[in-house]
Amino acid sequence: MARRGRARGGSQRAFLQVSMSIDARSRPPVKLGILISGEGSNLQAIIDAVGRGELSADIRLVISNKAQAHGLERARRAGIAAQFIDHRGFASREEFDRNLVNALNAHEIELVACAGFMRLLSPVMVNAFPSRIMNIHPALCPAFPGVDAQRAACDYGVRFSGCTVFFVAGGVDDGPIIVQAIVPVMQNDNEQSLAARIRAAEHRIYPYAIRLFQEGRLKVRGRRVFVDDSGHADERSMLINPPPP
Ligand code: GRF
Repeated sequence: MARRGRARGGSQRAFLQVSMSIDARSRPPVKLGILISGEGSNLQAIIDAVGRGELSADIRLVISNKAQAHGLERARRAGIAAQFIDHRGFASREEFDRNLVNALNAHEIELVACAGFMRLLSPVMVNAFPSRIMNIHPALCPAFPGVDAQRAACDYGVRFSGCTVFFVAGGVDDGPIIVQAIVPVMQNDNEQSLAARIRAAEHRIYPYAIRLFQEGRLKVRGRRVFVDDSGHADERSMLINPPPP
């Protein structure tokens, strides 16, 4: 379609681009599984984006490895199947992951979104969903991987931090980057105040990254993710922030 667009004149090209994006938006809702361990505010942001019609997703299953995760309650309140699977009940990480894969496959999940899921995924999960597992990290990857990223950013004294949505590739917060958002770090910030500022940005970019997947606009080449932004000038500030001069 893009090749046909290049061969034609300006207005026809614009028409083709618009119809391509309508095409993308008319894809079926992505069948989404969400993995959590705790509060579930990102899960809530995704549920709310679907509710507002900003994201076409069928959230079929939420799994938590913690029984007390508030996110399970959020899922049930939204009428979504919610399962607690205790990782301590399995002999190995791989065994636990096999169980996750089975549960996700039983719900025909196409895309898995980790949202505060405090477990590293083994190749069993990563290979079952290649370039189909997203995660969100509260820092600008590759800076400050692992836990306590907000505290690490404060302690280091960076002037900016942010958050990153990426495809899980097996390492710690090091997969191909889909979307990032930047927030300032203020002189009087502490871990909590910075985390709150970052959290607000997370709630914007995670539903957006899932939407890009649902619209078929992400291409992974090596460790780079290319976003089809033709006909989406309005989304520029989501992808390029701050905007170019
Ligand atoms: C978020 O800060 C996310 O970046 C990190 O874990 C936290 C989860 O928060 N991976 P919530 O459970 O979605 O509120």
